[in-house]
Amino acid sequence: MPTKKELLATTIEHVDITQHNVIPLVEAMSKMSYSSRDLARAASIYDRMLRDQDCAVILCLAGSLINAGLKKVFVEMIRNNMVDAIVSTGANIVDQDFFEALGFRHYVADERLKAGTEDTMLLDHGIDRIYDTLIDEEELRICDDTTKQIADALEPRAYSSREFIIAMGAYLEKHGCKTPDSIVYEAYKKQVPIFCPAFSDCSAGFGLVAHQAERGDRPRVSIDSVKDFLEITRFKISQKETGLFMIGGGVPKNFAQDITVAADILGAEATMHKYAVQITVADVRDGALSGSTLKEANSWGKVDTAYEQMVYCEATIATPLIVGYAYHKGGWRSRAARQGNQILEAVPAR
Ligand SMILES: NC(=O)c1ccc[n+]([C@@H]2O[C@H](COP(=O)([O-])OP(=O)(O)OC[C@H]3O[C@@H](n4cnc5c(N)ncnc54)[C@H](O)[C@@H]3O)[C@@H](O)[C@H]2O)c1
Repeated sequence: MPTKKELLATTIEHVDITQHNVIPLVEAMSKMSYSSRDLARAASIYDRMLRDQDCAVILCLAGSLINAGLKKVFVEMIRNNMVDAIVSTGANIVDQDFFEALGFRHYVADERLKAGTEDTMLLDHGIDRIYDTLIDEEELRICDDTTKQIADALEPRAYSSREFIIAMGAYLEKHGCKTPDSIVYEAYKKQVPIFCPAFSDCSAGFGLVAHQAERGDRPRVSIDSVKDFLEITRFKISQKETGLFMIGGGVPKNFAQDITVAADILGAEATMHKYAVQITVADVRDGALSGSTLKEANSWGKVDTAYEQMVYCEATIATPLIVGYAYHKGGWRSRAARQGNQILEAVPAR
């Protein structure tokens, strides 16, 4: 039986879009057919979003993207004003990004482990598997516990996930961020709001469960998902136009799309999302949200139809091409940081 050290020997390395100029490749793909042309059109729509000075870009992250080597793509987006707000699963933000910011890594699983026949052996070693990627469960428990420590140190009240993630950024500022590239820490410094609408469904959930159980009837920290919805709706209302860049489907896609309707309910004159791009492997057959087209979203009053593009592709392939294209095109150079956290903190809660 291999040792734990042998199993966790090779780290996942994050792709660096700044080092690969993919413009000629994506332009060549625009003259091809099928998914290549769709991907190239999505890249040009994202570039167009960045050149539209009135448009705030909302990035949606589903699935398990950070452990897969996409972290630095999103960090470069934050650093270079290519994104103004993020809606994500907790897994991406806490279990994977914050986890790496605490100094831990994700590991390449040997090819034979993908079959799943050796998962009991992995369990015995305390190793978790995400398809072809491995994680040390003991290190993940430290991540859970760190979120408990953060909750323990906060004033007991209800927080939006955005507010709690700011506290995670402040923790990294105080204790040191152990990686050069962290979404949580970069967003903290650039005042980019991050929302995790199902925040308890990740490593932070374990920390918060332990925090609340320990507090018992005493005042405690809780997460208010309605506050999340209100805050991101206020962010939408504060912007003239918005564009969605969605990676995967799930809760982040619906949450970000729904803010147009929530703005309407609040009586604000907010527009539909002017631009929308989605990368997904889901299709329309099951009627579920992840594969529903952006044209369908138009029937709900959420997405405009002039600049929308579905890309049916696995995200680790499509994301570096689309973001890399827009990065090297440089449309972001004339964009200012919107500092959404400042905007939200300036609005009195009602
Ligand atoms: N390993 C994990 O994924 C993990 C770990 C801890 C917690 N969680 C929690 O599980 C919940 C489920 O997350 P979800 O709602 O995003 O569901 P999900 O992970 O099933 O993703 C939703 C849909 O997005 C699309 N998608 C996901 N990854 C993709 C990819 N790489 N390329 C293309 N399309 C892709 C698929 O169509 C998928 O059905 C979240 O609350 C998360 O925090 C997940």
